[in-house]
Amino acid sequence: MRIKAASGIDLKALCEIENEVFDKNSYALSYKNFLYHIGKNPLFVCEIDNKTAGYILLLKQKQSSKTRIYSIAVKKEFQSRGVGIRLLEKSFTWAEENGKKAIKLEVNAANFSAIKLYKKAGFVKIGVLTNYYPDGANAILMEKLLDIKNAL
Ligand SMILES: CC(C)(COP(=O)(O)OP(=O)(O)OC[C@H]1O[C@@H](n2cnc3c(N)ncnc32)[C@H](O)[C@@H]1OP(=O)(O)O)[C@@H](O)C(=O)NCCC(=O)NCCS
Repeated sequence: MRIKAASGIDLKALCEIENEVFDKNSYALSYKNFLYHIGKNPLFVCEIDNKTAGYILLLKQKQSSKTRIYSIAVKKEFQSRGVGIRLLEKSFTWAEENGKKAIKLEVNAANFSAIKLYKKAGFVKIGVLTNYYPDGANAILMEKLLDIKNAL
């Protein structure tokens, strides 16, 4: 299992993952969205046996001492093998190296597997956004405090 920064050659695989794991009523990222983020925001992919198993996309938020996980997804055939945790750990390292003191995200309140993953990684619930998703589902806001020795 290896984590690397995404580049243009990963676009096709990123879209395949996105279309596989997110349904049409969610905020799935398009090819254009991924293209926009590559090089602008931290976007990491996890490879297993030279196949793209998953990705994590952060928003830099230059003016903020916090960074945000914008999306994380793991291809079904690679789920429950620790890829999600490895991608989160990569995001923590990036955030700490870039002086961020916390990392935050929002997750669909019905997405129990993702919420369990985030809790396991040390995130705590800090709020709720009601009626946040197109289908009316609530979002849970979660945050994790990071090692602040390099914080801005
Ligand atoms: C959520 C997701 C990223 C987890 O990735 P993953 O690689 O399967 O997660 P891991 O193997 O690292 O699992 C780590 C922990 O997460 C939790 N977890 C992951 N998948 C789970 C599942 N299906 N059911 C319950 N808990 C689960 C468990 O606590 C697990 O630890 P354990 O194996 O010791 O029990 C993946 O299921 C996914 O891509 N889901 C669809 C997209 C999505 O919902 N993204 C999040 C949007 S906010």
